[in-house]
Amino acid sequence: MAQIRLDKYLANAGCGTRTEVKQFLKKGLVTVNGVSAAKPEQKLDPQKDQVCLRGESIGLEEFVYYMLNKPAGYLSATEDSRQPVVLDLIREKKKSGLFPVGRLDIDTEGLLLLTNDGALAHRLLSPGKHVDKTYYARILGKVTEQDCRLFAEGLDIGEKKKTMPARLVILPEGGYGDEISEIRVTIQEGKFHQVKRMFEAVGKKVIYLKRLSMGSLKLDSGLSPGMYRRLTEEEIEKLRQNQ
Ligand code: URA
Repeated sequence: MAQIRLDKYLANAGCGTRTEVKQFLKKGLVTVNGVSAAKPEQKLDPQKDQVCLRGESIGLEEFVYYMLNKPAGYLSATEDSRQPVVLDLIREKKKSGLFPVGRLDIDTEGLLLLTNDGALAHRLLSPGKHVDKTYYARILGKVTEQDCRLFAEGLDIGEKKKTMPARLVILPEGGYGDEISEIRVTIQEGKFHQVKRMFEAVGKKVIYLKRLSMGSLKLDSGLSPGMYRRLTEEEIEKLRQNQ
């Protein structure tokens, strides 16, 4: 394996974010081959060098990250006795431990991140982190500027509190006729059926929903529904920084 920076090694091994890892190094909590290491940029060979944090050996667990363009008809789950699940679409030898980060409804398409990195998933889904999720939707009914204002204020969807403010953008007429509007909406929460319930709250119905992005991660337009690819190093790093 190629040489890797010490801070990256520790972050990849799930010890914390790059910033947290730098603090550990500063505090003298890390050793490489028994020698105290304080420099984040120090290079090491994961095959040969032994890294310890607070005296405990850190092995480089192999994390994998896939972006899937989820097709309709698949559950966002790892297994189900009745319906096909998104994991069925991943044709890799080693897929144990992989799970979808969050859920899209069975009829929703678009960006779904699959990984075995529980810490990253937890941070991306944490309500306090306010990670933007952007969707394209087709709506039965005419979406108005008044709807955009209501979305921006937050809506009562039958929960204890109103939703957080959402950004609703009406897209130019796309040839679906007067009865159907096309929109883009960005929310920061992930409540059950949230987008559908927000439109219900303004008296309209979502008839097609597709997720376009989650934080810094954008659905690759080259992936048709059902296709997936590994995230690039840059995409992984940006997602880590999202948090
Ligand atoms: N909001 C919904 O209503 N459904 C989804 O799948 C995602 C967001």
